[in-house]
Amino acid sequence: MNTQKVTILDVQEAKKEKRKLVMVTAYDYPFGLMADEAGVDIVLVGDSLGMVVMGLDGTVAVTMENMIHHIRAVVTGCKRPLVVGDMPFMSYNTSIRDAIINAGRLMKEGGCDVIKLEGGTGFAPTVEAIVKAGIPVQGHIGLTPQTASALGGFKMQGKDASAAKCIIDDARALEDAGAFSLILEAVPAPLGKLVAGAVSIPVVGIGAGPDVDGQVLVTHDMIGLFDKFVPKFVKQYTRIRPTIIDAIKAYGEEVRGVSFPGPEHSFKMSDDALEQLKKMIPDASAE
Ligand code: KIV
Repeated sequence: MNTQKVTILDVQEAKKEKRKLVMVTAYDYPFGLMADEAGVDIVLVGDSLGMVVMGLDGTVAVTMENMIHHIRAVVTGCKRPLVVGDMPFMSYNTSIRDAIINAGRLMKEGGCDVIKLEGGTGFAPTVEAIVKAGIPVQGHIGLTPQTASALGGFKMQGKDASAAKCIIDDARALEDAGAFSLILEAVPAPLGKLVAGAVSIPVVGIGAGPDVDGQVLVTHDMIGLFDKFVPKFVKQYTRIRPTIIDAIKAYGEEVRGVSFPGPEHSFKMSDDALEQLKKMIPDASAE
């Protein structure tokens, strides 16, 4: 298997060569390692960690410290894929200066290769400034979970022609601002195709149909580890949660029934040492 680190140039080359990009999320070392071993191109340390790891209702409360902590763990396990660090809500919305400082922190303290932020035309100047500072940016348009309440909830975007046209305008503005790629979330499949055709940078879809340049899914959704709700665009490739619960239950039963730990999981002591020890502590019970 190719072990060479994926770069933003490889990602852009993939679109030209019509090679679909494979992207998943990871939030810790073991999942970074597994995503790498599975041969994905891009790993996103998404602020979705607020929901699938921290158990929050949304992504708004996720902090810079949360992101840096999780990015660091993923980067340790993830050698080949391009690692994207997600900018949390209000880390880039207050000013361009804050945006550059916080994007820099994700790279310097977290160790990710590039950053991602949500927003379209209105955020083009922010994207441009971060790119000018030397930090590659992946845009995120369509459904933007950080501002889901302003969009009326976690709903499909670009339903009518004028809303769809705004999303194409967003994609073009971000490309012009220097974004190397875009995430396009929860839009009708025909619009996904039009957006991918409207820009020369790769468009990675999540609920944007098959005719985009690649796909991203939240790993915890895709493996059925998080199943509080399952969005329409998620395919569960396995349902790992019941398997884990069954393993913990079996452990509990064996602990209570004293069949775990068995001799194979216990350390030995020589008979001599044990006899000597018992003589040293005559008042201690060996029962
Ligand atoms: O935070 C995240 O996981 C994301 C994906 C849904 C693309 O932004």
